[in-house]
Amino acid sequence: MTFDTIIRGGIIVTAADTVQCDLGIRNGRIAALGSGLSDAGTVIDARGRYVLPGGIDSHVHIAQPSGPGIVMADDFESCTRSAAMGGNTMVLPFCLQETDAPMRQTVNAYHRLAEGKCHVDVSFHLIIANPDEQMLGQELPALVADGYTSFKVFMTYDGLALNDMQILETMAVAKETGALMMIHAENYDMIRFLTAKLEKQGDTAPYFHGKSRPIPIEREATHRAITLAEVSEVPLVVVHVSNREAMEEIRRAQAKGLKIKAETCPQYLVLTEEDMKGLNMEGAKYVCSPPPRDKASQQACWEGLKTGVFTLFSSDHCPFRYDDTQGKLAPKGRTSFRWVPNGIPGVAARLPILFSEGVSKGRIDINTFVAVTATNHARTYGLYPRKGTIAVGSDADIAIWDPKKTMTISNANQHHGADYTPYEGIKVKGWPVLTMVRGNIVMKDGALVAGRPVGAYQSRQLSRI
Ligand code: URP
Ligand code: ZN
Ligand code: ZN
Repeated sequence: MTFDTIIRGGIIVTAADTVQCDLGIRNGRIAALGSGLSDAGTVIDARGRYVLPGGIDSHVHIAQPSGPGIVMADDFESCTRSAAMGGNTMVLPFCLQETDAPMRQTVNAYHRLAEGKCHVDVSFHLIIANPDEQMLGQELPALVADGYTSFKVFMTYDGLALNDMQILETMAVAKETGALMMIHAENYDMIRFLTAKLEKQGDTAPYFHGKSRPIPIEREATHRAITLAEVSEVPLVVVHVSNREAMEEIRRAQAKGLKIKAETCPQYLVLTEEDMKGLNMEGAKYVCSPPPRDKASQQACWEGLKTGVFTLFSSDHCPFRYDDTQGKLAPKGRTSFRWVPNGIPGVAARLPILFSEGVSKGRIDINTFVAVTATNHARTYGLYPRKGTIAVGSDADIAIWDPKKTMTISNANQHHGADYTPYEGIKVKGWPVLTMVRGNIVMKDGALVAGRPVGAYQSRQLSRI
């Protein structure tokens, strides 16, 4: 046999090109692109379908400790199952630094949780919660050298927020090692101040989560993070950007020639703060940070995607069950929004939402879709060209899409561990019908293909941005 698999006659799309031809796969890699390829064990008819690089979701949280009594709804099996169902071939979750354990030990524990459980490939970012001498002087440089080439820091959240000095010290290590830093940009003190004020007024329902973190809080922190990166002479990824004011800070920095990259997410395109107004605790289903904003902010996020201010579109999948005292209905959450676990599921919904609202409705072209959902993630996080594109020699990580298939997003078709989706009822046009990881079909027509999970850990090079 010349090939293990041939994908016949599909419309093959990369971030740059669109061409109709056959695609031949051998030993898990793309071996040929051309017309009339023949001789394969398996032939997949893709006429009338798009053949895209599998989605890479570079911002997901899996099995991350989330505070006393709170449990994340996904383990590695359920999150990667959901990812595969949604046309993804790789996810990048975070290893959160523990206060009482060496980082290497924590990273190894995540590996053990993932080993043999994943339906798509995985790689890990680190979260630096305590940038002490041991971490910055020894652990972090060693981990970067071993392929953990990106890490996130937070400007807010109890137990995670770093002050400017700590951020600068961490950036110095990024500069020294070539690692890429990601930042959660919200002003911690302003949030604490407003939270206390709202609670005092009795404004404690989930809706007031949004009021405790208004747009200027994100704008100020974004500006400060960019300034710290400028002074430190390091690139920076501003994650989960939700509105125009923060986007304009990023646009200005990019226009100055600074290496500032940015990410937005589906919640900022299709949800608003109104969603957090649900009766009783229903609004908790939409509580995430930064919070969903308004229609004008949605427009701004689209503009950022169209004009290239945002090169990354990720889910920030951070799932908690709703009807669960270890999730959104944690008892303390009823006393104040402050205690409602932050985060929403979205790893399976990310691509259909962008395909439908973006490509099918003519807001972005299919090449931009591929760029912001796969190629740029691979480039940004040291995986390109092994991942994120369709080219001879690249891994055969592929999603076949039916651009005409209409579906309604519902919890039943998300296949995650949560008991709800914040995107329930959204009608989409365009749906992934097959997902293939390194030549192995893992999802076909909405069903997981039986067999051992094929996903594997992928070590990464330094970023290419
Ligand atoms: O609310 C969110 N986004 N939770 C996930 C953690 C984070 O900040 O990314
Ligand atoms: Zn964050
Ligand atoms: Zn996140």
